[in-house]
Amino acid sequence: MIVGSPKTMLTTTASDPLREKILRANRAAHAREGALYLARHPEQSNFYQARRLARALDAFSKAAIPGGALLDLGCGTGYLTLPLLERGLQVTGVDLAPEMIEALAARLPRNKTTVCRLRVEEAGEFLRQDEELYDGATVSALLHHLYDYEKVIEEACARLKPGAPLLIYFEPLKDAGHSPTGHKLHRALAALDEAVYRLEMRWRGISPLDEEYVWADYQRRFGGIDLDRLEAILKKSGMEILRVEKFCARRYGWAAWIGNRIFKTPNTFYILARQANT
Ligand SMILES: C[S@@+](CC[C@H](N)C(=O)[O-])C[C@H]1O[C@@H](n2cnc3c(N)ncnc32)[C@H](O)[C@@H]1O
Repeated sequence: MIVGSPKTMLTTTASDPLREKILRANRAAHAREGALYLARHPEQSNFYQARRLARALDAFSKAAIPGGALLDLGCGTGYLTLPLLERGLQVTGVDLAPEMIEALAARLPRNKTTVCRLRVEEAGEFLRQDEELYDGATVSALLHHLYDYEKVIEEACARLKPGAPLLIYFEPLKDAGHSPTGHKLHRALAALDEAVYRLEMRWRGISPLDEEYVWADYQRRFGGIDLDRLEAILKKSGMEILRVEKFCARRYGWAAWIGNRIFKTPNTFYILARQANT
């Protein structure tokens, strides 16, 4: 069942004009994405990335209680929600954009409708209002869209039961530390990958969204998410870090393979952690 009204959320919580602007930009960008989100973002779903995600979800599911209740913040069209449901877990998916939630609802298998709750709501607002404790949480490609990702992470950790895992997936890595040569190779590969992507999108009649992300990708303005800072926040919130992987995300699997195996120039990361507080 889909519940929530993002319009209410924007008028009740958006006291900071910059925060409000970022929320509006995200709603607008993701309203345009809707069902086309994964087609427009093959960097998340190409063969190379799909294998990495499957491994991360296996490790996450192993740490979660079988059949447990999970929270997927910024669930989008269900890139993590659907495989988590397939693994027998129950999922509450929360997203700011109704169009993304609708696309997810349309992809939901009939036999999963009773174990999947969908909410159209801002992540921080949801965490402040919902009183449930969860057996695990996932946050994929959300933090870089947030004005105050630190607060959202702290609040998400506080909603986890002891031992519950948290997967923070696919976030842009700040200060990746490439050598000057590595950086040049990384830029050249990115340019080639992007050029092929633009051609493919034109051929498929899918318009790329650029302007829409100028404010929506707010944390990219600061170079991405600072991994050390995030780890410090997690530890302060009682989390034990189980795994950190840095990797190179590219639109195409072949480009991701070159970036990871040959150039070794990560630009993205994921963290798997566990609530250690009892
Ligand atoms: C890059 S997409 C990722 C979607 C999905 N997690 C995935 O990995 O494919 C980011 C999602 O976060 C949502 N979002 C952005 N800001 C949000 C916020 N403040 N609260 C809740 N969701 C938000 C967007 O609507 C969008 O669906």
